[in-house]
Amino acid sequence: MNASSTRDLASPLEASGGTELPDAFSIEDEKFDQIYPPLVRTLSSIFWTPVAVAAEAARLLVTRPGARVLDVGCGAGKFCLIAATLTDGRFTGVEQRAELVSAARDAAAQLGAAGVEFLHANIMDVAFADYDAFYIFNPFEEHLHGHKIDSAVPLSPELFERYTSYVSGQLGLQPLGTRVVTYMGYADDIPACYDCEATFFNDDVKLWIKTREYDPALERLGLTTRRSYRGSQGWAPPRR
Ligand SMILES: C[S@@+](CC[C@H](N)C(=O)[O-])C[C@H]1O[C@@H](n2cnc3c(N)ncnc32)[C@H](O)[C@@H]1O
Repeated sequence: MNASSTRDLASPLEASGGTELPDAFSIEDEKFDQIYPPLVRTLSSIFWTPVAVAAEAARLLVTRPGARVLDVGCGAGKFCLIAATLTDGRFTGVEQRAELVSAARDAAAQLGAAGVEFLHANIMDVAFADYDAFYIFNPFEEHLHGHKIDSAVPLSPELFERYTSYVSGQLGLQPLGTRVVTYMGYADDIPACYDCEATFFNDDVKLWIKTREYDPALERLGLTTRRSYRGSQGWAPPRR
């Protein structure tokens, strides 16, 4: 990928809104991110998973050799690439922005990474039944808040609702025992049939496991978009 193919990406300052780096971001990230073109690299501290978080999430999601893990909104593929290097799982990232899919594929080629693939698609076109476990780092937050990667895709509160409802419905239909790891966010897309079983990195990383049958009537009461969770400090309230 050359510089012109990333011209629509926001500057890091614009994207970050001046926020601090996340706690988990480290010198390992500075090193890993060298694999990306400059504009993709400078988005990393806000939009891509830190190396330490990716390693922990991969450990939590790959419970048997060959487990198929879907990264919902993979960006430049950082989670998938690190996870594929550290585990014997198979990782698929789906991403709607073509420039980021190119960056992810280029990075995979440079690393010679096996067990990883990147799909250029909208999450609405992906059947979750093809996967065993799921990684979710705030894919739809751009629709609601100030941090934006670029203006290449439509953003609106209506699309936030549509995408989170789709992900929640797909996760609901997965078998009992299905694992999901979320990083940051409010778990809007985790249905009520999943419990938060453990938290890491000051509750920023959560392991969710499907422990009950999916009940669409219960979801319609609003629990999919008003999910509370249990963290190390006790129960945290829903955001709205
Ligand atoms: C916060 S980034 C996380 C990237 C990656 N999962 C990681 O952890 O490094 C969220 C990504 O989700 C993508 N995304 C958002 N909505 C999407 C959709 N409907 N379909 C596919 N990708 C989407 C965005 O373009 C963005 O690259």
